[in-house]
Amino acid sequence: MRRFEGKVVLITGASAGIGRATAERLVGEGAAAMLLDVAQEPLEATAKHCRELGGEVEARLCDVSREAEVNAAVEACVERFERLDVLVNIAGILLLEHTHKISLEQFERILAVNLTGTFLCCKAALPHLLESKGNIVNTSSTSALAGMPYGAAYGASKGGVLALTRTLAVEYGKQGLRANSICPGSVKTAMSRSSNLPDDTDFELIRRAMPLDKSRGPEVVAGVVAMLASDDGSHINGESIRIDAGTLA
Ligand SMILES: NC(=O)c1ccc[n+]([C@@H]2O[C@H](COP(=O)([O-])OP(=O)(O)OC[C@H]3O[C@@H](n4cnc5c(N)ncnc54)[C@H](O)[C@@H]3O)[C@@H](O)[C@H]2O)c1
Repeated sequence: MRRFEGKVVLITGASAGIGRATAERLVGEGAAAMLLDVAQEPLEATAKHCRELGGEVEARLCDVSREAEVNAAVEACVERFERLDVLVNIAGILLLEHTHKISLEQFERILAVNLTGTFLCCKAALPHLLESKGNIVNTSSTSALAGMPYGAAYGASKGGVLALTRTLAVEYGKQGLRANSICPGSVKTAMSRSSNLPDDTDFELIRRAMPLDKSRGPEVVAGVVAMLASDDGSHINGESIRIDAGTLA
């Protein structure tokens, strides 16, 4: 399948996990890509692999919580590729802690990356996406759909992503722009492997958020992003898709 031939995609969080798998999937289907992340070496590795797949790819350091960096990255993308068709916001960070022990600084940092970062990228990309009648895929989480113990800041940030995405879908839908979310759960990545739980974690509570069968790799998420971002998703707007092997079914 070459659903992204002639399309330009911008992907945040492309150094690892779901972001890397998505970059490889979309470039593998013909996209030219601007890849953003804060982790330089792995970002270069993703870009190199994508180029080996035959794609025109640029990689750029960008902290999505910093407005000037986001604006410059979006401008650099449009300057290099002369258009923007798809924005995929994947960059994110996780904190698992008892809610009464989360500092204000920690809470605000999670929101700054996961929610404000998503907003900043959408804001900067919107004029270009309206021009191309493109679309946005934002990364929420199952933690936005059901209580995630020890994930107050994370769940709040991901709930905000869902609301932001639905707003964009309704506000800009008539102008030909679509916006959708994905809600992954228990996908095998660095984030899920190193999710430092509190020492006195109640695993009965955690089991609520475990997959019914087994966890899978990030490519299962990339395939759903590709569907939503391609013309196969042309009648899907303001939707969120749960990708958790049925945990919250
Ligand atoms: N793995 C899961 O089970 C799961 C479940 C639900 C949601 N998610 C979401 O999926 C997304 C990807 O997660 P993952 O599991 O691939 O994790 P990951 O840690 O492998 O990847 C996250 C990427 O985001 C980058 N990043 C972090 N802060 C950034 C910033 N300020 N600016 C730019 N890039 C930044 C990291 O460097 C990393 O490359 C995240 O938004 C995460 O919340 C993952």
